Formats: sequence, C-alpha cells, structure tokens
Amino acid sequence: MYNKKKLVVLTGAGMSVESGLSTFRGAGGMWGQHRVEDVATIEAWYRDKQKVLDFYNIRRKELLGVKPNLGHAVLVELEKDFDVKIITQNVDNLHEQAGSTHVLHLHGELMKVRSCGPGAEVYDLSPDNYETRLGDTCPKGYQLRPHIVWFGEAVPEMNIAIDIVEKADIFLIIGTSLQVYPAASLLRYVPAEVSVYMIDPNEVSANNREINIINKGAGEGMLELKEKLRKYL
Ligand code: APR
Repeated sequence: MYNKKKLVVLTGAGMSVESGLSTFRGAGGMWGQHRVEDVATIEAWYRDKQKVLDFYNIRRKELLGVKPNLGHAVLVELEKDFDVKIITQNVDNLHEQAGSTHVLHLHGELMKVRSCGPGAEVYDLSPDNYETRLGDTCPKGYQLRPHIVWFGEAVPEMNIAIDIVEKADIFLIIGTSLQVYPAASLLRYVPAEVSVYMIDPNEVSANNREINIINKGAGEGMLELKEKLRKYL
C-alpha cells in the first residue's frame, strides 16, 4: 500500500459546458439572461418566491436533460492513482453522476430543497418530482426553498473546503472565472510549494500565483492533464 497524492480540484460552471449547461458570465451566460437580484438573493426570495422557485425548476429540468462529459469521467478515472477531492461551485450533480466519490458543494445543490424553518432540514428531490411550488412545505409546515447559496448568503462549507485545500499535494482549477468570493479565495490557501494547474479555454486572471495553464475545454484539457500527472506517480 502506498499513500496516494492528494489531488484537490476546484470546479466551476465551465466543467459542465460540454454537457450542455451554460456558464454564468461571458457570452450566453446565465447572468446575461437573468438578473441576479431577481432570482439569486434572499431579497428576491422575499419579494417573489414563485419567481425564484420557477427559476430553479427550470434549472433542474435542464440538468435532468444532460449527462456528465469526458472531463467528469477523467476526474473519476484519476481516483485510481490519486486521492481526488473535488470542491465544486456547481449546483449540478454531474460529478456524482459520473462516479466521483468526494464532492463538496460550496454553493448548494439543485436536486435538494431546504426547509425555511428553524431546523433548515434538507430533502432530496427525485427526477420524477423535481418541481417546488409555493405552498410546498416540510413535514413541520415550513415552506421549502432551493438548497442554494444565494449571493450575500454565507458559504457554510467554506471552512471544510479550506481544510481540504491546505492539505493538497496538487491543485487543479477547472472552468471557473474566479470572480465569486469566498470560493475564489481558496487559491490563497494552496501551500506555496504545491503545483497549480488550470484548465480553461479562455483567459482567467489569478494574481500572485504561478499557474500551469491548459488552454482547452474540460474534456480535452483533462486528457492532457492526465498525462502531465504521470510524473507524480
Ligand atoms: N471547459 C472549461 N471551462 C470552460 C469551458 C469549457 N468547455 N467553457 C467555458 N469555460 C470557462 C469560462 O472561460 C470561464 O472562465 O468557465 C468559466 C465559467 O465562469 P463563470 O461563468 O463565472 O462560472 P463560475 O466561475 O463557476 O461562477 C461562480 O458564480 O453566479 C455564481 O453561484 C454561481 O457558482 C457560480 C459562481
């Protein structure tokens, strides 16, 4: 037995582009079509719950129509040789569908809902019954809301994520513009001697850190990275 090296991976919306989901920023991005203030803040929720619920019902329908892509699959394959820990900003479950075993969701999960009551209990939605409507309540009678971290809300998993990042032997970033905090700040916790790789077909600025950039989409980029990682075995 040998100890596998810890490969810590931070993923964003670009990870799921080749599956058919859109990014948030840039051409065709979600936030070009919807206003954050209308659908992804607690104020939006208090103002018009049905509008927010509808937005996430549509996101779930989209998710149910797509499958994991090559990039997701290569990350699963890497578990053979590395201790792979994925920290994702994505609310889709494509990493899990592909078969990744350690996935931490920083921004919540589309296929879950949460009670607005004091217990904030979380419930799974099923693919046959994924819509939430006004009046859908938890067993204690509180309205159910999307299990999503909205803008302005705390990121409850952040400390766990920092802990994982601090123990990385290799750090990989895939498909995130690194514009949303605190997620983007995780890069600061990567130990100085650890190599950082980034897969993104577009330019991403990550200040104050030397990064090995693979200027490709998630699928092709992961194939190239898999070869580069051989030197750590
Ligand atoms: N493969 C890999 N990366 C890609 C691909 C692809 N095929 N296509 C685009 N990208 C890259 C873009 O170049 C961009 O750098 O994916 C990145 C997506 O950036 P954003 O749209 O900003 O998404 P993300 O960084 O995940 O957003 C963070 O913002 O709105 C919130 O909560 C939401 O979790 C999200 C957070």
